[in-house]
Amino acid sequence: VHDTGVTGRPVEAPNGVRLDCLAMASLEQLLHDRLAPAFEDVAGAPADPTLRRSQHADFQADGALALARRLGRNPRDIAAEVVSHARLDDLCRSVQISGPGFINLTFSDEALAPLVAEMASHARLGVSRAEDPHTVVIDYSAPNVAKEMHVGHLRSTVIGDAAVRVLDWLGHRVVKANHLGDWGTPFGMLIEHLLDMGESEGAHELSQGDLNGFYKAARIKFDADDSFKERARNRVVALQGGDPQTLRLWRLLVDESEKYFLAVYGRLGVRLTEDDFFGESFYNDMLHSVVEELGRIGLLTESDGAKVVFPRGFTNRDGDPLPVIVQKRDGGFGYGATDLAAIRYRTQELKADRLLYVVGLPQKQHFEMVYEVAREAGWLVAPARAQHVGFGSILGTDGKMLRSRSGDSIRLVELLDEAVSRAAVSVEVKNPELDGATRANVAQMVGIGAIKYADLSNDRLKDYVFDWKRMLNFDGNTAPYLQYARARILSIFRRGSISAPAGAPVILVTEPAERALAIELLAFPSLIEDIAESLEFHRLAGYLYTLASTFTKFYEHCPVLRSEGDVQKSRLTMSDLTARVLAQGLELLGIAAPERM
Ligand code: ARG
Repeated sequence: VHDTGVTGRPVEAPNGVRLDCLAMASLEQLLHDRLAPAFEDVAGAPADPTLRRSQHADFQADGALALARRLGRNPRDIAAEVVSHARLDDLCRSVQISGPGFINLTFSDEALAPLVAEMASHARLGVSRAEDPHTVVIDYSAPNVAKEMHVGHLRSTVIGDAAVRVLDWLGHRVVKANHLGDWGTPFGMLIEHLLDMGESEGAHELSQGDLNGFYKAARIKFDADDSFKERARNRVVALQGGDPQTLRLWRLLVDESEKYFLAVYGRLGVRLTEDDFFGESFYNDMLHSVVEELGRIGLLTESDGAKVVFPRGFTNRDGDPLPVIVQKRDGGFGYGATDLAAIRYRTQELKADRLLYVVGLPQKQHFEMVYEVAREAGWLVAPARAQHVGFGSILGTDGKMLRSRSGDSIRLVELLDEAVSRAAVSVEVKNPELDGATRANVAQMVGIGAIKYADLSNDRLKDYVFDWKRMLNFDGNTAPYLQYARARILSIFRRGSISAPAGAPVILVTEPAERALAIELLAFPSLIEDIAESLEFHRLAGYLYTLASTFTKFYEHCPVLRSEGDVQKSRLTMSDLTARVLAQGLELLGIAAPERM
């Protein structure tokens, strides 16, 4: 038995490769564990093998180049020396030095097969639960009361939901924090407008989701009518002073908006519920003590009558320090104060060790400054850490910010309705034989899935173009393509009237297309680990797309139903495993996958 450097419980696989049934080592890890000591032997000190996937072999180690520079030697000689020091014969069928000193590594079929078998026999597809679970607070969605959710909130909701799913699946304690915009000066005018309209009338309009209309009407009166403006101002004072009648009206606005937001979440199939609303108002009672504590520590400065903190390392273009405003001149608290209270609450009361903020890139600096203040105040102490999970804008096909035809921000429910009705058309074209109920169900999954996948398959830090045709295409890196790929694998089993082989899996890896599929499948566990850290969901999407395409080639070259015996068992198991990985991957992205479509 060779030491593969894998942690956890070692299992003796048939060919002597050690693997772990709790935490499967990735192929890369297996190679790394063999190469790193060899590099160290040659270097006389630790040196990184620098492994990556390669077109010419399964993996390529580039570390000899850097090491050669360090030692002032020929990189090909270094590579040869490393190879002679490394024990690779039980893992690789070929180890070659190419180009300036790359080490090309190709796994032997005998090494791959038991790893695939191990993955297939594992309910969690080789992905282990975290040994040391973290408490992760995910701040996401966060629309504003009595205001339409815009596409930025859609991005936050979809990305945040994927983060919840991945971290929850890995066994972390996840706290969903929907930081609803439910407090602040606009509530003066909103409450007065509600009174003008009549409570039941206004409530009705809001629960129907006509939030744009309501907010705009209030705004117009506020700008045009001085006496309304006056009433609105007084109302803000009453609200902050805790006047019961005002609080009741405020609560009504919040409740009706929450109902509407919950309806959107239901349509989207995200995990947010009414228990996850921790709006800005939730932190009201903590604001005075935040100011008090910051003052006591000596971080607070007066600036133009306001109380501010200047976090270290933030300046404007002229080099002047930038403030986080904690308390305004009029005594009111701002957005920043609330975020400071929220950090302190999350680390101290919820005992969170990781804070995620899924908010658009324009707020990046705000969060970086707030984190710095929190660190200086001792509210964010390592190993606890905060991460801004930023994202770009959604653009229309004209390359400008996505808007409705009238130029307003798009109403999300309408967008979702359109997705489903467009999907119904494509689904019918693709498979006219589906009965009406199935088609409606599939259209739902395809339409909503397409919108989410279009978002998650793009690098979140970049803007992306919202393009119905592209996202609903059954070809390409889209939700419908992946959903279809998975349904088609299930149909192999239906057509053959067979189920996936039971018992200890038999895996034979011989054909090139089988090898390619094996290598792709085995990349899943470590990818999920990476994504839990980087939250780069487009890499999971890209992986699923490559996996589905690799499966298509496998299916073309390796007959499944027309093969026999162990070959058939192996191919059925690999087909089933591919379908499971696709379904699990989509599930982690929050995308439902129909059994047939
Ligand atoms: N409601 C804010 C907006 O619509 C987003 C809140 C983000 N979360 C936070 N903790 N500040 O822009």
